[in-house]
Amino acid sequence: MLSTHEEQESVLRSSFSLSKMGVLGFSSSSSFVGFFVVLSLVINATVLCNGGKTSRFVRKLEATEDMPLDSDVFQVPPGYNAPQQVHITQGDQVGKAVIVSWVTASEPGSNTVLYWTEGSETKYKAKGKVYTYKYFNYTSGYIHHCTIMNLKYNTKYYYVVGIDHTMREFWFVTPPQVGPDVPYTFGLIGDLGQSFDSNKTLNHYELNPQKGMTVLFVGDLSYADNYPNHDNVRWDTWGRFTERSAAYQPWIWTAGNHEIDFNQSIGETKPFKPYSHRYHVPYKASGSTAPFWYSIKRASAYIIVLSSYSAYGKYTPQYKWLEAELPKVNRTETPWLIVLMHCPWYNSYNYHYMEGETMRVMYEPWFVRYNVDVVFAGHVHAYERSERISNVAYNIVNGLCTPVNDQSAPVYITIGDGGNQEGLATNMTEPQPAYSAYREASFGHAIFHIENRSHAYFSWHRNEDGYSVEADSMSFFNRYWHKIDESTH
Ligand SMILES: [Fe+2]
Repeated sequence: MLSTHEEQESVLRSSFSLSKMGVLGFSSSSSFVGFFVVLSLVINATVLCNGGKTSRFVRKLEATEDMPLDSDVFQVPPGYNAPQQVHITQGDQVGKAVIVSWVTASEPGSNTVLYWTEGSETKYKAKGKVYTYKYFNYTSGYIHHCTIMNLKYNTKYYYVVGIDHTMREFWFVTPPQVGPDVPYTFGLIGDLGQSFDSNKTLNHYELNPQKGMTVLFVGDLSYADNYPNHDNVRWDTWGRFTERSAAYQPWIWTAGNHEIDFNQSIGETKPFKPYSHRYHVPYKASGSTAPFWYSIKRASAYIIVLSSYSAYGKYTPQYKWLEAELPKVNRTETPWLIVLMHCPWYNSYNYHYMEGETMRVMYEPWFVRYNVDVVFAGHVHAYERSERISNVAYNIVNGLCTPVNDQSAPVYITIGDGGNQEGLATNMTEPQPAYSAYREASFGHAIFHIENRSHAYFSWHRNEDGYSVEADSMSFFNRYWHKIDESTH
């Protein structure tokens, strides 16, 4: 059902007052309670029937297969021991370092990255390390990781890997110096996989006229674990498929359930083995003790990456890290506080419904207290955007367990619609909950463009549309500098 922002607001407000009435009801006489129960049911029905927009956009529903191994996007680059699966990510906490990663197949070859700034004759060298791993009957190639440090901000660098054998050249642009009004454009992709739809998603991201400068990837990379014995050859093909973007702009990694690769029946009991060997992140720079939760600053954004599949209960390393991390965020330096995780907390599809609930219970009060601007998650193979809501009042006995309008709370966006072989999540809970502003089961990607300390613009782009079409969008007002309800302005 379509509804205007104003209607949604009134729905959220009535939801809020309903909760208050619930409290009053407990302390009133029985007839009074009865009256309120009936009234509550009537209002409740109104609330439940007035969710946001459920798009009825018609699309092909069958899941597409993974692209075959001989697809052009998986081609091994020519030349002896040529570097393949080249990808970069941020290498420190502020954007002055880059981790360059690549794989050589025949022998280790050089660990060195040669790099220089555009137009400069001076070339620099950085030396990395090489790793291999075994997974059941698979042995990896030589996986190189090299951190290039002390880079200049806002500068185009060229880099070469494969010295000694077949050299390949790429480039990247470093971010501007961290600061409150620095514009920056992030792309958002989740649950990508390597199907024909995955390829469309990546094409759409690359050809979107709003040029993303860095990808915030919300987990579930290759889906290799869907193959017999988690055939890790599909990790290699995924690395070659994504190179065309990930070698030229950083992809900020979040671990999803398809990264766990736990399979006791074949003796593989160390979680995240292929992922953690292949995708290094700068976790130590933010005081983290594991590569699955960490933070970076980039331009005017402070990005916190959490792990839905590592322990997050009280006293655990992730809990202690996040507890210490949130007070460190200086909104005068980085106004935009963005959180990435794989499993969504607010998801009204019937897939993975309530899976994120235990983590939500643990951390949501912190997100509200620290005014997180937006939370991006994946896992559900569809798109959904929430209102600004929280659900932190419940204390076992008070019955206050309905999400309420909360201008200190983040907007929750599920962007797990990258297009993997498992297909779309088309089955939704009905009616659409009041907190859900827009939902649609289509493949696509999103763009989060920060304009300055107070304004940002979010748009979601479905694969079936032209490259510049926005299927859904929202103007964001910063929760620290401009804490005004976006939906009424
Ligand atoms: Fe997932």
